[in-house]
Amino acid sequence: MDRYVIKGGTPLVGEIAIGGAKNAALGIITAALMTDETVTLENIPDVSDVNALLGAVSTIGASVSRIDRHTIKINGSTIGDIKVDYDCIKKIRASYYLLGALLGKYKKAEVPLPGGCNIGSRPIDQHIKGFKALGADVEIKYGSIFASAENLHGAHIFLDMASVGATINIMMAATMARGNTIIENAAREPHVVDVASFLNSMGANIKGAGTEIIRIKGVEKLHKSTYSIVPDMIEAGTFMVAAAATKGDVLIKNVIPKHLEAISAKLEEIGCEVEEFDDSVRVCSKGYLARTNVKTLPYPGYPTDMQPQIAVLLSMARGTSVVTESIFDNRFKYVDELTKMGAKIKVESNSAIIDGVEMLTGARMTVPDLRAGAALVIAALSADGISVIDEIGYILRGYEDFEMKLKNLGAEIETVGDEKDIKKFSLRVG
Ligand code: UD1
Repeated sequence: MDRYVIKGGTPLVGEIAIGGAKNAALGIITAALMTDETVTLENIPDVSDVNALLGAVSTIGASVSRIDRHTIKINGSTIGDIKVDYDCIKKIRASYYLLGALLGKYKKAEVPLPGGCNIGSRPIDQHIKGFKALGADVEIKYGSIFASAENLHGAHIFLDMASVGATINIMMAATMARGNTIIENAAREPHVVDVASFLNSMGANIKGAGTEIIRIKGVEKLHKSTYSIVPDMIEAGTFMVAAAATKGDVLIKNVIPKHLEAISAKLEEIGCEVEEFDDSVRVCSKGYLARTNVKTLPYPGYPTDMQPQIAVLLSMARGTSVVTESIFDNRFKYVDELTKMGAKIKVESNSAIIDGVEMLTGARMTVPDLRAGAALVIAALSADGISVIDEIGYILRGYEDFEMKLKNLGAEIETVGDEKDIKKFSLRVG
C-alpha cells in the first residue's frame, strides 16, 4: 500500500499549472454520451475518479479513446446497455450523472446507488424528485436506481437545497425532455456552468446556469462538439493554502481568479498576500497568520471542498478560529489525525473550534477522504519533522501528479511502499 512520507518545514516556492476540474469533467463525460456523434474533450484531468467513470462508460458500450493524457474522444452511439455495472462505479459519487444522461437520451437508466467520499449522509432525493417531475418513474431496489419514462416533459422544479449533483442531473435529463423546464434554487458552482456550456455546445438550449434559476428548452437531438474543461478551483485553492501554510510564495497558473475569490478573501483576511492576474494568482505568506471564522456555503460562498485545508492553516494561526461546516454532516474526520500533530481542535456539532499553535509536529496519519487527505499533506509540509500519511489513494482520486507538483515547488515528499522506504527517506533528508 502506497503512502506519502514528508519532511516539513520547507516553504513552497515557484510556479504550478492547474488542471481541468474533476467535478466538471465527471458531469461532462456523462453528458457527452447524450449524442451519437463523437465528442472531443480537452483538459480532462488524469485522476482516478475520472478514469473510473471512463471505465464505467466503456462497459456500457460507449467508445472512449485517449488522444493524449488530457484529451479524449467519446462516442455514445454504441451504448448497448442502460444498466451500469456496480463494480465500475461503487467508489465514485458522480456515477449518478449516468442517470440523468441515460434517462434523457434513452428514457431509461439503471445505475447502482452512488459511492464516493464518506463525508456524511448524502441523499439523492432531490435528483429523484426532479426526474419524477419530468415524468419518469423512479424506484430504488436491489441497490440500484431504476428510472424510466414513456416521454419526458418539461417541469417547474424547486430544489430544497442548492444541490450541485441534482442541478446537473436534472439539467441533463431536461435537455432532451419535451418542452420547457425551470430549475429554481439551482446550484451556481462553476462546474454547473461548465456542464451547461458543454451541453449548449452540443445544441442544448440552457439559459441561466450560474444563477439560481436555470431555464431549459428541450431539444430532440444533440450533436458533436469539442470542449475544454474549466480549471479546477479546488486544486487551485489547495495549492493556495499550501503556499500560505508553508510560508511560501507560489504563482498558481491556469486558473479563473473569479472562482477563487472566497478563498483569496479568507487568505488576505488572515494576513497572506494574494495577487490576481488574468489567469493566475500568486499567494505569498511571510509573517504570522491571524485567526478568523469560516463557514462553508454553496458557491459563491466558501467551498466545503476547501474546509479541511483552511482548518489546517488556522490551526497554525494566532488565536481561536471557528470553522463551521454547513453542507455535509460528517466532514471533520481528519481532526483526530491533526491532533496527533499537536493541533488544538475541538469539534462541537458542525463547528471546529481551533486554538492556533505555534507549530505542528510530524506524525503518522491516515487519510479519511479526498480533500482531508490534501489537507493532511499541507499540515505535514508545514510541520516540524517527518510525517507518514497512509491511504493516499483517496488523494489520487482528485489531484493529478500531486507529489510531483509539490516537489517542483521544493517540497520534500515521496511515495513509499513500506517501512524500509520510510527509513531510507528519513536517513536521506536527515
Ligand atoms: C458535489 C461535489 C462535491 C462537493 C459538493 C458541494 C461532485 C462530483 N461532487 O457533491 O465535491 O463537496 O458538490 O459543493 O461534483 N442533498 C440532499 N439531497 C439531494 C442532494 C443533496 O439532501 O438529493 C444534500 C447533501 O447531502 C449535502 C448538500 O445537499 O448536504 C449538498 O450536496 P450536493 O451539492 O448535491 O453535493 P454533491 O453533488 O454530492
